[in-house]
Parts: sequence; C-alpha cells; structure tokens
Amino acid sequence: MTEAIEKAVARRRTFAIISHPDAGKTTLTEKLLLFGGAIQLAGEVKAKKDKIQTRSDWMKIERERGISVVTSVMTFEYGDHVFNLLDTPGHEDFADDTYRTLTAVDSAVMVIDAAKGIEPRTLKLFEVCRLRDIPIVTFVNKMDRETRDPFEILDEVEEKLALDTAPVTWPIGRGRSFGGTYHLADNAIRRGDADKEWIKVNGPQSEQVSGSLPANERDAFVEEMELAREACRPFDLSAFRDGHLTPVFFGSALRNFGVRDLIEALGAWAPSPRDQEADTRTIHATEDKMTSFVFKIQANMDPNHRDRIAFVRVCSGKLERGMKAKLVRTGKPMSLSAPQFFFARTRVTADEAFAGDVVGIPNHGTLRIGDTLTEGEELLFRGVPNFAPEILRRVRLGDPMKAKKLKEALQQMAEEGVVQLFTPEDGSPAIVGVVGALQLDVLKERLNAEYGLPVDFETARFSVCRWITADSANELDRFVEAHRGDIARDLDDDPVFLAPHEFGLNYEAERWKQIRFAAIKDYQVREAA
Ligand code: G4P
Repeated sequence: MTEAIEKAVARRRTFAIISHPDAGKTTLTEKLLLFGGAIQLAGEVKAKKDKIQTRSDWMKIERERGISVVTSVMTFEYGDHVFNLLDTPGHEDFADDTYRTLTAVDSAVMVIDAAKGIEPRTLKLFEVCRLRDIPIVTFVNKMDRETRDPFEILDEVEEKLALDTAPVTWPIGRGRSFGGTYHLADNAIRRGDADKEWIKVNGPQSEQVSGSLPANERDAFVEEMELAREACRPFDLSAFRDGHLTPVFFGSALRNFGVRDLIEALGAWAPSPRDQEADTRTIHATEDKMTSFVFKIQANMDPNHRDRIAFVRVCSGKLERGMKAKLVRTGKPMSLSAPQFFFARTRVTADEAFAGDVVGIPNHGTLRIGDTLTEGEELLFRGVPNFAPEILRRVRLGDPMKAKKLKEALQQMAEEGVVQLFTPEDGSPAIVGVVGALQLDVLKERLNAEYGLPVDFETARFSVCRWITADSANELDRFVEAHRGDIARDLDDDPVFLAPHEFGLNYEAERWKQIRFAAIKDYQVREAA
C-alpha cells in the first residue's frame, strides 16, 4: 500500500443518516454541511426538500428524485476528516433505494425525535444496518422542545433495538431551558455549537453549568448527572465498532446544539472505510489496486443528455480519471473518462477518489446495480440486495406492435433499479414488482415520457414473490416443472416462485422442504457461485 492511499483512507468517514420522517434529518444534514463549510447558507437543503412530492404528481416525484440525486452524496471536511454523507430517499416507497445505499456506508447516524423516541421507520432502517453490522451513532434531536425523559429514551433504544447505549453527553436542561451539552467523561460543556471547543468545568455543580440553567432546575440537573454516571454504560469503542453499542448525543439541529459534538465523535470513533467481502477474498481499503461496486443508478440527471449515472463506492486503491477498469460481470474493459463528484449543488470532475468515496460514472446502460469494477482482478462484491417486491403488476400496453420496445424499456428500468422485472416461464406478459406504489407512478411516467409508451397496470393474480434455490439442481428443476405457471425469471435469469398469497407460499414451502424461498436476493450471487 502507498502512504498516500493509507492516509486518504484513514481520513475518510462514509455514513448515512437514518430516521423517521420529521425527526430532523434534513435540518441536521444542513447543519453538518454548514459546519463543514460545504454550504454557505443554511436553507439550501431544506429549500430542495420543500418541493416534496404528492402522490400521482410525477413531475414532483421526479423532481424530488432529481433533488435527492444532486444531493446524493455530500462531501465535507471537518478537522482532519473527510466526510461522505450519503443521502437516502425520504419516501418509504423508495425503501429499496435506501437499503442499497446503506450497503455503501461504513457507519450511520440515527436521529431520534426526543419527544417521540423510536418510530417505525427508524426501527426498520436500524434492522438493515444491523444485518450489516453498521455501527450507529445516536443523535437525540429537538431537545429544545418538550421532550421525554433522557433515561426513558435510552431505555427505549436498549429495549426496542436490543442495542446497548452509552450517553457521551447529557443535556443541560431541556425544552425552553435547554442550554447546552455536558460531556460526561471529560467534565466539559458546550453552550451550543458556537462554542468550537469544549469548556472544562469542575463538575455538574460548577457555576458555568448552573449559569446556563434556571435556578429551580440546578439541583435536579446535578442529581440527574449523578444518576447518569452511575447507571449508564461508559463508551466502549470496540462494542460500538461491532455494532453492539451506540454512543448517544443530545442536541437540537435547529437551534445549533450538539451538532459539533456529533461531528467530532464521527471523526474520532466512526470507522474509516472498512474491508469489503468479495466472492474470492476480503478486500482491504488500503490496497493499491482499485476496486469498487455500483449501488445506485440514476437516469435523466441532465434532461439534455439521456445519460445514466452509476454511483460507485470505491472499496480500495485509487480511482483515477481516465483509467481503464474491468467490468467483472461482462469481463469487458471500461474507460472511466469522466468520473464525477457530487456536491450539494454541483458536480465536478473527479480526478482521483479513494476507498469510502462515491463517484458518479456516466454511461449508457453498461453498468448495472451490483456491478463490480476492478483493475483486472476477477472478483465480485456481494451484498447489494434485492428485496422481494410487495406489489406485483402486469404491464398492459395500448399498442401491441410496441411489445418489443416495451420489453427493452422495462429491461432498462429494471437495470436501474426503478422496478424489478419478472418474465413468466409460460410466455405470458412480463410482471413488474415494486416495494412502494410510487415506484409504479414513476415507471408509468418514464415509459411514456422517455419511450413514448403509454401503459397501464393490471393486477396480477400473484401477490407474493420469492427467489427459489435448492442444493440439488434436480430438485429445483422438479419444482419448476411442477409449477410452470407460477415461475418467472428475474433480470439475471434466476427463478422466482409467484404465489397468490402468503398462505399459498407456506403451503408449497411445507411440501417442498428441499426448496429455499428467499425474500432477499443479493445481486450476482448466482454469477459468483
Ligand atoms: P426530516 O428531514 O427528518 O423529515 O426532518 P426536518 O429536518 O425536515 O425537520 C422536521 C421539522 O422539525 C421541521 O419543522 C424542522 O424545522 C423541525 N426541527 C428539526 N430539528 C429541530 C430541532 O432541533 N428543534 C425543533 N424545535 N424543531 C426541529 P417544520 O415545521 O416541518 O418545517 P419548518 O417550516 O420549520 O422549516
């Protein structure tokens, strides 16, 4: 490994923010960018988010998607570190996009609304992080408002997420009297993010602390701090890195409290780009040779050029402009002539990128989600997942003469991850599958606008879809043969079993014990096997 690579890797922190809508993700993102100097004015991120979509208004959806792309990855520096913050779509109908993005991060910040605690979507996203052992830093937001008791919030995290907590800071007052954060281990305070440095104090009863609190709350604060010190776990770096413990910070993104505490913690404790498992071996982030994988594809970023951008997470080495990479799925070389970095508003040519960085690679459909790029080595990264769709529809085309064009268009949409495409074995029309209904709206609009294909959707007689595998190829063939009318192939030609309902699925699963029915498929597992 070269020193330059080692140094670049050590500085990088690639993370995402997970939260339930309204907990304050946008506000926090904006503040992180502001303190990192990436944006000049608060309000930029917010302004974009305000153009929120309503159902069935596709222009807005598309705009929202466009926006979430321009801000897809936000890079900022703070102290000695380079932070790559990967944005995830706000709407849960695009959940699979979010899950895929989480495969490209090394840590996550979980934002909790101090009045609400753990909400359903936070829980779901947390579970995805846990599957991949992603370390989580918790930010309890909105401490400037009426909140729940901090101990109660910590208990809830421990119980609902089965995750140990270690409060690193403690709120000095709350609601109207929220006046800063107290560093439990260091005996230091910040009266807000305007304090760049921590101010050392003699203890919770010291004057600097009580000066930030109304007289009638001071004793209670001292007591609470004693209890916190006695009852709470101390921070443990290895438990955090293993995903068993979360350091907890309290603050208010809106009123500028605790955000600096959080960035510093990410710099100090969040892991630098991690080693990544490929099918043949483990890839270390500091290796010389470039490896990377595609976790997201975005079309129509620039309406004048019908280009597609593949978002690539670099896993090792140095990705340089102009280099030749090997697309392992096809074995073909690919010239990376115009890799790009994305900032809050603009994109710029990326001359070089290191592990942990995300670059956009313009292409005309060569790259697919899950693809691996290397400098020649035959290896495939695993783990950009496909989730079994929850809504299945047949696509009905007004003009049957255009069936071939529709097939091509659907194939492209599926490669971009807009929808999943299943081709029934019995020759009946294709079935599209999505996780959320909004994805169907996007598909319909895009087929019309980009391919001149007005379509409608018909309910299929299926509502459940599972990838099927078996240890014995014979057994799998037997199952497929016996269920030909209920079998389809996905984009990779892997078989799926379609059932009218869960009951039907369970019934078959009972009868065919040798067959595995999977609700999640990692891309390219078949090709890697
Ligand atoms: P999201 O991206 O997670 O959906 O949340 P967002 O940041 O948009 O915040 C949701 C609402 O909560 C916003 O109010 C925002 O101003 C507010 N908020 C965020 N952080 C804090 C905080 O620390 N304290 C308080 N009191 N409020 C906070 P809104 O009324 O929906 O928007 P706006 O009209 O205020 O911009």
